[in-house]
Amino acid sequence: MRDFLGLAGKRILIFGVANRKSVAYHIVQVCREAGAECVCVVRDQATRESTAKILNGLEVLTCDVEQESEIAALPAQLVARFGQSIKFDGVVHSIAFADYSEGMKPFHETPKRAFLQAVDISCFSFVEIANQMRPLLNSDAAFVTISISTTRMASESYGYMGPVKAALDSTLVFLAKSFSGFSKVRFNAVGASPLKTSASAGIPGYIDAYLYAEKATLRGQAVTTAEVANVAAFLLSPASSAINAQKLIVDAGMETNYFDREIVRKMNL
Ligand SMILES: NC(=O)c1ccc[n+]([C@@H]2O[C@H](COP(=O)([O-])OP(=O)(O)OC[C@H]3O[C@@H](n4cnc5c(N)ncnc54)[C@H](O)[C@@H]3O)[C@@H](O)[C@H]2O)c1
Repeated sequence: MRDFLGLAGKRILIFGVANRKSVAYHIVQVCREAGAECVCVVRDQATRESTAKILNGLEVLTCDVEQESEIAALPAQLVARFGQSIKFDGVVHSIAFADYSEGMKPFHETPKRAFLQAVDISCFSFVEIANQMRPLLNSDAAFVTISISTTRMASESYGYMGPVKAALDSTLVFLAKSFSGFSKVRFNAVGASPLKTSASAGIPGYIDAYLYAEKATLRGQAVTTAEVANVAAFLLSPASSAINAQKLIVDAGMETNYFDREIVRKMNL
């Protein structure tokens, strides 16, 4: 039988596993099932310990991407662990952070510190990881980041992370262009609609938005984290070799259906 994805024997570096619900954890599962070797990078030692059981048998390094020095130290750590000739075929950036501790404010009151920290961790880290990992990449490696399905819908429960994800969507285009100057490395994103993960559970009012989004899908059933991971695995694989600088939307048709008759009827009751 033909191995459609062609991920067998590929080596993938995956950032962002926090627990079993994490998008990154599901990506690890799909890639391993497809025969890839996964190396994980988690935020800190505490996360390393709490994920030890679920990442059983995998190499796990730590890197707080808010610290430039930790991202810069990563290649040397990988070389120390795997040897001078270590190369990666794929890198997954499944990292986001927003400090909602002051509650969700109207967008124009967004605290500057919180906005810039969110951009740093959720977007600029993608640039820094790409730059630092450059010497350890095979020339046709694929990067995948996890974005949101639309940054044109000003969801009040998502707040300033909307513009931060818009920056991420644009960033991958610029990374794809600049890496094309010396390689065939590709950069893409999965644009996921609301999922049930711990990151989303921390967003004030998220559950109501999640339930609305579920109703708005064409199938009346929310997108699962496993479905997002499947698309990420495709974008990491040679099967998607002609896709570059794109965001693939995984929203079960939600963006076409905000005027669903049933939703509109309920609004008018
Ligand atoms: N959950 C959703 O509804 C949804 C929808 C669309 C996109 N996404 C995106 O999916 C990605 C993964 O999120 P998730 O839902 O799996 O939640 P998650 O909490 O499981 O993953 C977020 C990860 O970011 C890591 N992280 C945060 N700050 C970090 C730092 N300073 N250094 C290193 N790592 C750091 C966390 O440790 C965690 O592993 C995010 O980019 C998120 O925006 C999620």
